[in-house]
Formats: sequence, structure tokens, C-alpha cells
Amino acid sequence: MKLSELRAKGFRNLAETVYEPGEGVNVIFGENAQGKTNLLEAIWLMSGLKSFRGAKDQELIAFGALFAKLKATYENAVRENRAELTIADKKTAVLNGVKLGSAAGFLGKFSAVVFAPSFLSIVKSGPEERRRFLDASVCQLRPAAAASVTEFSRLLKQRGALLKDVQIESSLYDMLDVLDERLATVGDKVVEQRKEYLTRLTPEVSEIYRGLSGGREEITLRYVGTCDGEENFASLLKKNRREDLLSKTTTGGPHRDDLEILINGVSARAFGSQGQQRSAALALKFGESAVLQAETGETPVILLDDVMSELDAYRQDFILNHIKDRQVFITCCDPEAVGRLSGGTRTKIEEGRIVPCT
Ligand SMILES: Nc1ncnc2c1ncn2[C@@H]1O[C@H](COP(=O)(O)OP(=O)(O)OP(=O)(O)O)[C@@H](O)[C@H]1O
Ligand SMILES: [Mg+2]
Repeated sequence: MKLSELRAKGFRNLAETVYEPGEGVNVIFGENAQGKTNLLEAIWLMSGLKSFRGAKDQELIAFGALFAKLKATYENAVRENRAELTIADKKTAVLNGVKLGSAAGFLGKFSAVVFAPSFLSIVKSGPEERRRFLDASVCQLRPAAAASVTEFSRLLKQRGALLKDVQIESSLYDMLDVLDERLATVGDKVVEQRKEYLTRLTPEVSEIYRGLSGGREEITLRYVGTCDGEENFASLLKKNRREDLLSKTTTGGPHRDDLEILINGVSARAFGSQGQQRSAALALKFGESAVLQAETGETPVILLDDVMSELDAYRQDFILNHIKDRQVFITCCDPEAVGRLSGGTRTKIEEGRIVPCT
């Protein structure tokens, strides 16, 4: 995947912009609040997904403007494409002159992976973030797998309600039995999907982490399950039923599992330094992109918002100069970090405008 041009009009604080990135690494630099992340967000929206900042459509339109328009020219493995996104009351998308139903029509066309500072919570926060990462990655890779993920969370909700109702209406116990059986089947499928994804992800993450740390650190990813296999989950549900009835929740199951991230054998969450935690999160993102690439044959562009801070010179150099064969976009406000870019393209942003670099 290679973006050769992005035009923005009426988007956030960006002036009418024509951005022409190069192959390889592109650094977008400038002081705070000049529009660096806005430009990255504009590129990201061409993937058909929602803003990585969780912005509403209306917030994307420049203050005082009626609509925003983004036009991208990019090459995939097959051809050059022109995509156009208009953001007004709703989003409308046009690809190579053909009007698509909605922005979701872009999904899978322009493939991108984004690292925003909020993604650090994958390492720092509790297991929920990590389960969500696994499930979302699985769904992105295999849309059919999404059915199990959705059904599992629906069944859990239903079970929660049933655990309450059954205490008033004891004839509902039969229903609870039926639901538990289905929950065990679907829950097992969800776990299998996560593990299968992890098997593909792990070598990619290890390799990139080794590079980032100059071979001095090893990362390990380990799935920590509360039960192993469908039978096992079914018997766990039986065993926990009394407790579940008291707490009116399902105490054990795949919705309590975790993905442990270890650096040199110890938990990155508990013991990792800032730089190690950031490196681990970054390696996960690069890994996600590699798996996506193996599956689709397209190399996703990588968007890195504000990754340089907290990383030492070696790790910064690795990201700037040793990521091969893909287009990367990095925002940065530290001139010293920008100075480390040896090849690649620099773009300076001032008050929403691309200005010549000095
Ligand atoms: N819809 C909008 N219309 C006009 N301006 C906007 C809109 N949305 C955001 N902005 C402005 O865009 C400015 C730049 O935002 P952006 O997040 O791109 O900065 P940045 O260059 O990434 O800065 P930092 O280095 O602090 O991350 C902000 O000051 C914000 O007020
Ligand atoms: Mg920013």
C-alpha cells in the first residue's frame, strides 16, 4: 500500500492541503497544536474505520465549514486508486469514480494500522483491553469470526439477566442449562480464534521487539485462560453456578482471560519501564500489520502518532531508519528525533499548513 497524495479541504485545522508523502518513512513534524495528528487522522479515515481519537463526524469538519473533503491517491498491489471521502451530515465515499454506500465501503481497500498514545493501555491497563485487541484483530482478519465474538457477548448478557430471573421463576433453570451449553461451545470458539491469532502474531512481535531493543530484550506473549476447551468451560459453569447465582454474573470464562505480555520473563505491565511498555505496544502494532499483510497480500501503511517520546536514541533510530518495505507516517515534535531520520521524507506543519522544511 502506498499513499502518493492526500488532499484535505475543510478538515479540522488543516488549510486546503496537498500532501505528497514519499515511500518509506515520512516524518510529519512541528510544534504542538499545529495539525500533525489531524493530518494522520485524515489518512486513517481513508481506511473506512472510525477516527482513532474517537471523534464524531461533526468534530472533523473545520470550525465554520459545512463539510470536509478528503481525497487520496494510493497504490495497492493491483492498481492506482482514487478515493474521496466527504464528511457532512453523514460520510459519503467514492472509490475510483464509483459511489459506495457509506464510508465502510472503504474497509479493506486502503489498509492501515495506527498507533495512537492511547494504545499504550494495551500494556498498562487491565486484561479487558488486551482481550479487545485480540478479538478486534481476529474480526479484522476473518469477518466470519466476528459472529462468534458477537454471539459470545450476547450470551453473556443473557446469562446475566437469567441469573437474576431464575431466582424468582425457578422454571427458568432449564433455560439456564441450554444457555450454558451454547455458551461453552461459543466461548471455546472465541478462545480458539484468539489462540490461533496469537500463534501467528507472536513471531512477528518478537522479531520487531528484538530489533527495537537491539537484541537485548525478549518479549513473550502468553494466553492465560480460565478454562481449556469446551468441556472444561462447561464444567466450570456448572461448578461456579452457585456463586454465579449469588453474584448474578458469570465468574469464570473466556471473558476473564488475559494476554500476558512479558519482557525478559517478567510482566511488562507490572515491571516494564516507560520505554519498554511503549516498545511492546509498538511491536504489537507492527505485528498486527505483518499478520494482516500475510493474510491479504497488501502491506498496510503504518501511522504512528507521537511514538518518539520516552524512546531512547537507539529505539528512535530503529523506527526511523530500519523499518523496511513499507510506508510509515510518524508525527513528532522533538527536532532532535527528527534529525535522526537519514532517508525518508520530512514534512513540516505550521498552523495547519505544510511549509517548506529548513
Ligand atoms: N474541527 C476543527 N476545526 C478547526 N480546528 C480544529 C478542529 N479540530 C481540532 N482543531 C485544532 O487543530 C489543532 C491541531 O491539532 P492536532 O491534534 O493536529 O495538533 P498536533 O500538531 O498533533 O499537536 P501535538 O504535538 O500537541 O500533538 C488544535 O489546536 C485544535 O484546536
Ligand atoms: Mg498530536
